[in-house]
Amino acid sequence: MRFIGNKTQLLGNIKEVVDRHAAGSRSFCDIFSGTASVARFFKQWYAVYSNDLLYFSYCLQRATIEAPAKPTFDRLAAALGIRDPIAYFNEMDTQRMESLPVAKRFFQNNYAPAGGRMYVTDSNALRIDFARNTIEAWNREGLLSPDAYYYLVASVVEGIPFVSNIAGTYGAFSKTWDRRAGKLFTLIDLPVVSNGFENKSYNEDGTALLQRISGDILYIDPPYNERQYLPNFHVLETAARYDFPVLRGKTGQRPYAQQRSAFCSEKTAGKAFDALLGSARFRHIILSYNTDGIMTLDEIEAIMKKHGIASSFEVSFIPYRRFKSKSVATRTEDLKELLVYIRKEV
Ligand SMILES: C[S@@+](CC[C@H](N)C(=O)[O-])C[C@H]1O[C@@H](n2cnc3c(N)ncnc32)[C@H](O)[C@@H]1O
Repeated sequence: MRFIGNKTQLLGNIKEVVDRHAAGSRSFCDIFSGTASVARFFKQWYAVYSNDLLYFSYCLQRATIEAPAKPTFDRLAAALGIRDPIAYFNEMDTQRMESLPVAKRFFQNNYAPAGGRMYVTDSNALRIDFARNTIEAWNREGLLSPDAYYYLVASVVEGIPFVSNIAGTYGAFSKTWDRRAGKLFTLIDLPVVSNGFENKSYNEDGTALLQRISGDILYIDPPYNERQYLPNFHVLETAARYDFPVLRGKTGQRPYAQQRSAFCSEKTAGKAFDALLGSARFRHIILSYNTDGIMTLDEIEAIMKKHGIASSFEVSFIPYRRFKSKSVATRTEDLKELLVYIRKEV
């Protein structure tokens, strides 16, 4: 998924640090999961805890981390003969979805030209609205297990970035149509790893959660800059909640006072990191950050050494890979991704 700070490209580097320092570990906690790409990868080998302040991230985690396997949709099959709801939605003609009452079309009424915005086309908005209304109705009627419900919501959320008319985030929509927006919206069939462990997903402040859970490896990937995540991904949050919020302004922001991160402000990031590490009851701590972030490497080192075993502190510098174009590559040449390790006495 297109998401600021998605670590898909860094999985091999993180694994290398984990293998070097934490052999014999059994559990892995991804406390700032975002797309859940790191949690999904490590679920192959560890009992995984995942967490994020964003509800749509929770749905992605709940579907692929906490769920022990892909759901079977038995109740839906028994009641309606639908064994594969993903195919059911994806193969349906958009015309047939016109039966959905206009008042129920939150995406079309707010994020598409019919509602004065251009995040998605009118027809893709209708496909999203039809899927979300149907999933909620099936859930109300008791036709979905909790695993099946979250799986379908996550499949909708994962599909939206493929047809979104944006330049990276939902901070604003583009004023002309991107080619990607013209593709047909489909739900994504998500793979679910079965690892034989009990895995658990959460949707809360990371520091608060760390008061209650403990384990072996703690992977920390906080925001690096002032950009709050919710306003940049509000459309996905609304797709997941489907809660008909009152939107504001040209870009159609939803309220997000409860989902502000202390890691996005110079004033509070250091204190928040200090509190997070203070709460952590994990032996191996790995931080992802970059050399252009709000906290400096010196500050990070001081805080990590305050809570961990100073002699175990280690930093890996990884060339920044987000940008592919040559001109931008020159500008970001000095920028490095950081993987910072420390061992903690617990
Ligand atoms: C750099 S991103 C994580 C990216 C993720 N590793 C991935 O590969 O997709 C940071 C994440 O931290 C979350 N976040 C920020 N502050 C948080 C907090 N106090 N508690 C939990 N999650 C938080 C944001 O919502 C965002 O999803």
